[in-house]
Amino acid sequence: MFPQIRLRRLRSHPRLREMVRETNLAPSDFILPLFIRHGTDTEVPIQSMPGHSQWTVDRLTKEAREIESLGIPAVILFGIPDEKDAVGSSSWDEHGVVQQAIHAIREAAPTLYVITDVCFCEFTDHGHCGVLHEVNGTQDVDNDATLPNLVKQAVSHARAGAHMIAPSGMMDGMIGALREGLDAAGFTHVPIMSYAAKYASGFYGPFREAAESTPQFGDRRTYQMDPANGAEALREVALDLAEGADLLMVKPALSYLDIIRRVKAAHPDVPLAAYNVSGEFAMVKAAARNGWIDEQRVALEILTSIKRAGADLILTYHAKDAARWLAGES
Ligand code: PBG
Repeated sequence: MFPQIRLRRLRSHPRLREMVRETNLAPSDFILPLFIRHGTDTEVPIQSMPGHSQWTVDRLTKEAREIESLGIPAVILFGIPDEKDAVGSSSWDEHGVVQQAIHAIREAAPTLYVITDVCFCEFTDHGHCGVLHEVNGTQDVDNDATLPNLVKQAVSHARAGAHMIAPSGMMDGMIGALREGLDAAGFTHVPIMSYAAKYASGFYGPFREAAESTPQFGDRRTYQMDPANGAEALREVALDLAEGADLLMVKPALSYLDIIRRVKAAHPDVPLAAYNVSGEFAMVKAAARNGWIDEQRVALEILTSIKRAGADLILTYHAKDAARWLAGES
């Protein structure tokens, strides 16, 4: 007879449960997305993302200080310009919305780490993530013509003071082009976090309302990944690392926990972020508003699962709430 093993002994006291906890979520794990709109003195609430708004630059000060005081180390910025054109040229305007927001946030909250999303869908009048050309009789994003524009945008963000850039357009060769362009402009110290495995997902719905970036025709399936593919994510990741990515990202997070796991297993030495996207956030909010789930419990469970799967960092719209909950406020 061997002694009976009782795992329940490890769960028998709250202190012991804390001591043997394998995954500890902390505000320092979070990156909070912020939407910056053109104009002045305006905050436009985003209907499908309760608690989130599009902010004008002059309204950012209070928000940035609050984020900083909650112990959230970083924000990622998305811009909503007043003028859009076919190539998205307002994205590299030195007085553009994102560029101004970088200055404002760094001044208001000097300890915050400022990341910028580098893409075109919010800046083009057609809503696609680059310059268009015709392929097989339909308009599609021209990969190689988009690369120099991505470099222009990234360099202008770095000039404005962005600490890190995060290209999300899923163009082939974008990491190599951006690394080279940033280095040539003197920004060898600016890291690149690649949206390396980004899926063509229905979970981006609320974001497209928030960022006013819905494609005017077609979809993003010629550049974002097929949700049915897992091994392909490892190829995307390997290429981005070879081209010089400093951090990797998997997006969305929740339906892709297996991808987070596989990427972390393949590259345990590379920091990995996961994007807990707008649709994932909106589902929790909607169910909680109906009284069907406990928001705090479910949101923390989701964030913990993303970290347990292997993410070191989590981009999440729940960052402020979660930071408060983790500090013991409800
Ligand atoms: C593209 C981009 C998207 C998101 C972040 N960057 C949307 C898209 O690919 O259409 C979505 C994030 C979210 O849903 O929270 N620049």
